[in-house]
Amino acid sequence: MNVFESLERWRTYRRTITGSVGFVPTMGALHRGHASLLERSVRENNQSVLSIYINPTQFNNSQDLCNYPKTLDQDLAIARRAGVDAVILPRYEDIYPDGYRYQIDETQFSNELCGAHRPGHFTGVLTVVMKLLNIVRADRAYFGKKDYQQYLLIRDMVDAFFMDVEIVGCETVRECDGLALSSRNVLLDEQARKLAPHLNALLRSCATDQQIADKLECMGYAVDYIVTRHGRRFAAAMLTCGDRQVRLIDNVEIN
Ligand code: PAJ
Repeated sequence: MNVFESLERWRTYRRTITGSVGFVPTMGALHRGHASLLERSVRENNQSVLSIYINPTQFNNSQDLCNYPKTLDQDLAIARRAGVDAVILPRYEDIYPDGYRYQIDETQFSNELCGAHRPGHFTGVLTVVMKLLNIVRADRAYFGKKDYQQYLLIRDMVDAFFMDVEIVGCETVRECDGLALSSRNVLLDEQARKLAPHLNALLRSCATDQQIADKLECMGYAVDYIVTRHGRRFAAAMLTCGDRQVRLIDNVEIN
């Protein structure tokens, strides 16, 4: 597995690749959810590329950015086990030589759900994903449906800008108790970890959005939203762990 800290060296290597390239962009702290994307990419492409970059422009909360877990050695071991061929580890200067002067703005759906609670978040996500897709020049890029709004916005961006890459949506990987795997789960303390599976269980129940929000608030969650739209129920809610708040998101298909 080749690890590229310099994009210069990556570009030279990219020119030598023949056959299809699969790409999984991440912010690291990899878990089985990320691994499932990597394994699918390895199955479906000749070469697979992982990027690890904690993108500051998509964090609207500086505490969340500071607390974001970093586990590079473990991440590289997971990537190697999954069969990844190349890992790119860009720095801020590589990604934002323009100082974030240029941005990708979506004007409708990005202002709803998570976008309504995290101003600028999806502009940061879409901008970095556009840049990474241009750097990697993948044939296919893999995104988790755990972040369903992100997946839809990226898929539609690629269509809107005639980008030559297939966006592949992958199912959410969960713990046995239903909690969606997330890099932020390591920040949950024992009590919050016990409360966390209720989010998914309630989303799958036949209660109304409002009833679910009320039940979660009673348990000690601070609910951002519970919204049913396009045949899915979307949720974001916070659990307090000591002096920090950990934000959980999830969504389920409803029939
Ligand atoms: P990150 O949170 O690291 O997630 C990287 C990818 O893994 C995303 O496509 C996400 O949806 C997927 N993923 C996370 N948890 C998952 C789970 N439990 N099951 C399946 N897939 C899961 O999402 C981002 O990073 C960033 O916004 C990024 C797209 C890299 C742009 O900075």
